Order: sequence, then C-alpha cells, then structure tokens
Amino acid sequence: MLVDLRSDTVTRPTAAMRRAMADAEVGDDVFGEDPTVNRLEARVAELLGKETAIFVPSGTMANQIAIRVLTEPGDEVILEADAHPFHYEAGGAAVIAGVTLRLVAGVRGVLDPAVVRAVVRPPNVHHAPPRLLSVENTANRGGGTVISVERCVELANVARDAGMHSHLDGARLWNAHVATGRPLGEFAGPFTVANVCFSKGLGAPIGSVWTGPRSLAEKARRTRKMLGGGMRQAGILAAAALHALDHHVARLADDHARARALWEGLRAAGLDVEAAPETNIVYVRVADAPVFANRLGEAGVRVVAVAADRVRFVTHLDVDDAGITYAISVCARLVG
Ligand SMILES: Cc1ncc(COP(=O)(O)O)c(C=O)c1O
Repeated sequence: MLVDLRSDTVTRPTAAMRRAMADAEVGDDVFGEDPTVNRLEARVAELLGKETAIFVPSGTMANQIAIRVLTEPGDEVILEADAHPFHYEAGGAAVIAGVTLRLVAGVRGVLDPAVVRAVVRPPNVHHAPPRLLSVENTANRGGGTVISVERCVELANVARDAGMHSHLDGARLWNAHVATGRPLGEFAGPFTVANVCFSKGLGAPIGSVWTGPRSLAEKARRTRKMLGGGMRQAGILAAAALHALDHHVARLADDHARARALWEGLRAAGLDVEAAPETNIVYVRVADAPVFANRLGEAGVRVVAVAADRVRFVTHLDVDDAGITYAISVCARLVG
C-alpha cells in the first residue's frame, strides 16, 4: 500500500476534473480573451468580496504579486515567523519587491494583534518603513491552524491603524471556511488583498487567484507578466479550478475528519503529537525526523520531515480511511 501524506499538493485531477478541462472553452488570456479564466476570476472576486481577481500559476506568484504591488523597495513586511514567503519562496520578496521581511512569532502560526502593534516602528530615518502585514490562513507550519474571522479583523485593523496595507495568503482558506462554516468573504474582507490556491486541498493541478481593489489591477497584471505568469489558453486550468469549486470544497470536511482520526491514532500509539488538528495537517515530534520519514517511506507511508525533530502528515482528496488506518499501523510498529 502507498499512502502519500506529504502534502495536499500531491493530488491528481479526478476523471471528472479532466473531462471539465478537456471541454473548457478557451482563448488567449494575455489578451483577456479566455472566457473560462474570466469566469473563474469573476467568481473568486465575488466569493472573496474583492473588486478584481487575476488567475496566476502558483500561490508563490500570488504572494509575490501581493507583496510587490503593496510595497516599495526598502519597505518592511511583517509576517508570522513560519510564514510561506519566508520559508518556501526562495527569497523572492527580497529580489522581486526589494523588501525586508520582519518575522514575528505567533502561537501555532497565529499572530497576536498586540504583539504586531508593538513591533511596528515609528517613522525614523534608520528604519525600513513598515508597509505591509501578511497573514497566512490556514497557517501551514502552525499546524493547519485557522485564524478566526475575528482575529483577521483585529490584525487587519492593526495594520490599517499603523498606516500599513494587509495581505491574506489564503492558500488553504477553503479549509478555514469549511472548518468554521464562516463565508470566505468574511475572512478575506478585512485585508487589502487576498489570494487562494486551487492546487492544495481542492485538488486542481495548477492555479491560484489573486484578488484586490481595482486600483491595483493594472500593477498586479503587469507584475504577473514580468514574472512570466501571463498564460495563453489557460482556460483548461481555470476549468479545473471551477470544477473544484463546485465539487471539492464541502468534501474538505472529510480531510479534516481523517486528520483528526490520524492524530488520535498516532497519539494512542504513543507518538508525540502536537495539538489536535483544526483542519488537514498533523505534526508529530520525533527524535530524528529524516530517519523516521525514511522508515515510513520504506513501508509505503510518505511524510515530510519539516525540521530535525518534526514530521508533517497532510490529508487530502487521494487519501481514504484505509490509508489512514495503514499509516497509523506503520507508525505504531515503528515506535513500538
Ligand atoms: C500557505 C502557503 N502559501 C503559499 C504556497 C505556495 O503555493 P505554490 O506551491 O502553488 O507556489 C503554499 C504551498 O504549499 C502554502 O502552503
């Protein structure tokens, strides 16, 4: 048996999704003429309560566009210490936007508004001007933690009161929405700009959407082009995202239930599990994470060692109950 719990990005498009892709009406999206891309952009803008939306190839590009359009070179971007643009975007913010990242520790990836307020420095010739607060929801390295709507509002207010913009990295905002039942727009609304991914829990092969005010649309589209993200008959990809919106959002509750079952099983087997998952990500502490991950891999259970002593398990569309039971049994055998 092979159970791939490394990430929710490993899913393959379902047969129905592939059919939707094959049937997509397409045009040249750089000319704004792809009807399926246009439909996706309009739908996501409405879901997130933003004026404009742009389809981009990846969450990384969406984040980089957000940072670039809201800052000037030399500015400071404040974000949680485990945030994606710091850990996994190849230092792009320094190259593409020329900004400094100011990391602030949160609790399981959740920033405290009072702490953010305290780190914002007043104008001074010595300081990089704090210009943007970036918030990740759910917080991946935090444990798939949901940042509540109320916390989103508080954080965005802190940014606004300090004269800063705010950005929501909503790669897994769908999971926060399903876990809480709160509308996507309530999470995204407080932030200046927000982006979501279709290639994580929603199971599409490629694609993210950046959203924001109309006043930033031209700069965002130019940045996408500059980064090589202007795609032509991209409707075949947008069709996968539209299919995911119709068929793969509510089912995230299954991923959450399986993550919970996995967490309970691992805990019962004596593993040092972190806090119970709120969504689809489970972290475990082990003495030697790379060795542990390798041993699991040899038994057909794939996980990621994200630190020397920390392993990540992520549930998704391509993992079923039997896979969870098998993963628990292999872990139990390894620590037993
Ligand atoms: C929270 C978060 N933001 C952004 C990204 C980047 O997405 P992509 O891999 O599509 O560039 C990821 C990827 O897993 C992520 O977990």
